[in-house]
Amino acid sequence: MSVSLDTIVSLCKRRGFIFQSSEIYGGLAATYDYGPLGSELKRNVGQRWWSAMTRSHDNVVGLDAAILMHPTVWKASGHVDAFHDPMIDDKVSKIRYRADQLIENHIARLRKKKREERADGVYERFVAALNSEDVPKGLYDIIISEEIKSPDSGVADWTEVRQFNLMFKTKIGPSSDSEIDVYLRPETAQGIFVNFHNVRETARLQVPFGIAQIGKAFRNEIVARQFVFRMREFEQMEMQYFVKPGSQMEAYERWKQERLDWHIGNGINPEHLQFHDHEKTAHYADAAVDIEYLFPAGWQEVEGIHSRTDYDLARHQEFSGKKMEYFDPQSNERYLPFVVETSAGLDRTILMILCDAYREEEVNGEKRTVLSFKPSLAPITAALFPLVKKDGMPEIAHSIESDLRKKYNVFYDEKGAVGRRYRRMDEAGTPFCITVDGESVKDGTVTVRHRDSMKQERIAADQVSNFIGDQLA
Ligand code: GAP
Repeated sequence: MSVSLDTIVSLCKRRGFIFQSSEIYGGLAATYDYGPLGSELKRNVGQRWWSAMTRSHDNVVGLDAAILMHPTVWKASGHVDAFHDPMIDDKVSKIRYRADQLIENHIARLRKKKREERADGVYERFVAALNSEDVPKGLYDIIISEEIKSPDSGVADWTEVRQFNLMFKTKIGPSSDSEIDVYLRPETAQGIFVNFHNVRETARLQVPFGIAQIGKAFRNEIVARQFVFRMREFEQMEMQYFVKPGSQMEAYERWKQERLDWHIGNGINPEHLQFHDHEKTAHYADAAVDIEYLFPAGWQEVEGIHSRTDYDLARHQEFSGKKMEYFDPQSNERYLPFVVETSAGLDRTILMILCDAYREEEVNGEKRTVLSFKPSLAPITAALFPLVKKDGMPEIAHSIESDLRKKYNVFYDEKGAVGRRYRRMDEAGTPFCITVDGESVKDGTVTVRHRDSMKQERIAADQVSNFIGDQLA
């Protein structure tokens, strides 16, 4: 089923997945806090990514670089001069929009109305504008000639298109004379590039090899909407794969497929995922594709795979004066490796998982809300329910609980009707509920109730941990 974003937002707040940041002060736009269930889910997803990228490849290692970096890093990377979004203001409502997104939405609307020829024409002009010398003017001309209206005021009374840099600037230093301007990193990738030799030498790696990292990134997004889809502080899971020049396309195709498979392995419906080639590849890239998910607002990017040539290493070599070349012992050549990057947003991945897992069903005339997470990603793996708070049942349930706690996040609940306890756990996405009843006291068995099928089976109490281990494998 398709779910609205409002439904997900309200479930996230109600159940403690995600809260508005600084809520008691009225909130801070486009920043969010992960609650007890959300932080477990995020940790599990991050851990699955880490394992898939580093532990499962003998030539990919991890890194945890600092958020603050030498300011020249961002000059070298091109972010100071070119990391901006084209924005346009609605003069009536005073609301600011991303000009490229207004055009993309306009094209999507034309296609929905089956006006394919016109949509193709606008799309062609859009690609030409993005690749032109004067991107703001090209985008502005399309908005005006297509009479694209503001989603808020419904009129087409626009300012010019202007570019806004997205980096957050701050200062470090003990006094105003010694202060220097630094930036909060807008991507984690640069921490990997500048550590290319440190990691390669200490981990004794030969090209091809990869460096993976999960960490915070910051962007002063002008239009920050759609919950955790576009935030000002967010988390990225990035990997730079260094290859011999000429072999980048093979690595690119391989990582494209591997990354798509990883999302499918998270339980995402493959029909809700697609590749989308970039309309405009950055000047340093020779190929770029997005993995898109069918979010409530339509197809949108969750991950980018970019073949970045030797641009970043060459720029750091130029700006730092340090050699970034690699000596290839196999071919006796010295070269700057090319890079294939996989760059996923952790928060967007979480939003995708929440949207894809959400189900509403009717059971015996009552609505049941379920989050059908892949069991190993679920924030709570199992819940323990003594049927009643007496007759030795809580003791048995607590003993299973403490056994499971050695490996899993579990939840103990002895209050209220069991049916209601099941519903609460369905909404939290808990795959297994273990109920201890009168029979358990007599014969040492318990019931396991499965979240998705709601089927129940009886197993030995001392086998619960093994049973769950088998189910998660
Ligand atoms: N190093 C390449 C890079 O940063 P990107 O396409 O700008 O590429 C990669 O970002 C991913 O980071 C995106 O696919 C998205 O999932 C996530 N991301 C980017 N900006 C974001 C934001 N403002 N809020 C949440 N996630 C964001």
